Amino acid sequence: MPTMRLVPACTSDYRLLAEQCLPRTLFDYIDGGAYSEVTLAANVADFEKIALKQRVLRDVSQIDTHISLFGDNMAMPVALAPIGMAGMMARRAETQAVRAAEAAGVPFTLSTVGICSIEEVAKAATKPFWFQLYMMKDRGCVREILDRAKAAGCKTLLFTVDLPVAGARYRDVRNGMGGNVNALGKLRAGLDYAMHAQWAYDVGVKGKPLVFGTISPYMKDGNTPADFKRWVDSQFDASVTWKDIEWLREYWQGDLIIKGVLSPEDALAAANAGADAIVVSNHGGRQLDGVSSSIEMTPRIVDAIDDRLVVLMDGGVRSGLDVIRAIASGARAVLIGRPWIWAMGARGGQGVRALLSTFKSEMNVAMALTGVSSIGGISADLLDRS
Ligand code: FNR
Repeated sequence: MPTMRLVPACTSDYRLLAEQCLPRTLFDYIDGGAYSEVTLAANVADFEKIALKQRVLRDVSQIDTHISLFGDNMAMPVALAPIGMAGMMARRAETQAVRAAEAAGVPFTLSTVGICSIEEVAKAATKPFWFQLYMMKDRGCVREILDRAKAAGCKTLLFTVDLPVAGARYRDVRNGMGGNVNALGKLRAGLDYAMHAQWAYDVGVKGKPLVFGTISPYMKDGNTPADFKRWVDSQFDASVTWKDIEWLREYWQGDLIIKGVLSPEDALAAANAGADAIVVSNHGGRQLDGVSSSIEMTPRIVDAIDDRLVVLMDGGVRSGLDVIRAIASGARAVLIGRPWIWAMGARGGQGVRALLSTFKSEMNVAMALTGVSSIGGISADLLDRS
């Protein structure tokens, strides 16, 4: 008997619901990490270790969670991180997510490997959304994708640098995500998909076409996950260096965020290459298992960078309380990955709206109880280091 959750109260409730609603292969794809998932676990556990100082009698009757980032107003310092294949978790999920993000007043980031294309998301959006790029060997194709993002109104580009090669994710291997499945395995997967009837109807029937919307015009040999893996292996460019960032900096006139920086040295290199911001990130523990958690590295990177660029972070943020912990550790804002895709898999766009509303309420409570009224008032003073 599955655990009852009449009203999901927090991120882990959405995770539980997503596990019930999604076929195993898809749930494992969003939930899992690389190797033994040590970094994935550390991302969450290290947040939980951060103690905050409870403060009282400081007039917290008016709490304001707004920030301004790159000249845009955000209702709270949270953005939806890029999630590849989001549209497999709910019908045209990227369009549902961009609407949910707009309703909550926060940015949505479309992945290069989203199911919905840049153009489809732009049609669903009423404001500029963020676009995430992976570097491909064919620079003509990269230029074309950037032109399409610009034409769709994107002003902010996240360039992900921690995936020159794909990390080893055992759950995906076991589930046959990269191919190599025998007839029995295919039958079991088919049964698993069929047993999730709501998902099968919502995504399998109504959610088509299930292709990589933005890049499918460039994938010549098919559109299955196995074709995708082959294409990534052949096209994702492992020879990328800081020189390419300089090239990108010249080509992209909007805001440029380098995503996947985990050392002070690389953060300084990003500043030297002309980036406007970095995301301190280990790809949610999906790439190099055994590296430090993002929240562990955030203050060290903030110290080293000395205000030369904006520092964002992601990995392990599971509540509004964690957002406060991240801001107090020096980040300007955070991105959330799994929380929104769990909510999407569990309850669609409504789920993402409700999740974001929960984050905002949790931030309000955390700010009131730490005695600050605005995001600008949050500093390392909120951390209890005793
Ligand atoms: C990701 N992430 C990711 N990052 C990126 O730059 N492009 C992408 O296409 C994807 N795809 C993707 C799929 C799935 C299922 C997950 C869980 C993650 C990484 C993502 O943007 C973000 O860095 C992490 O998810 C942050 O960690 P949390 O919030 O999931 O703990």
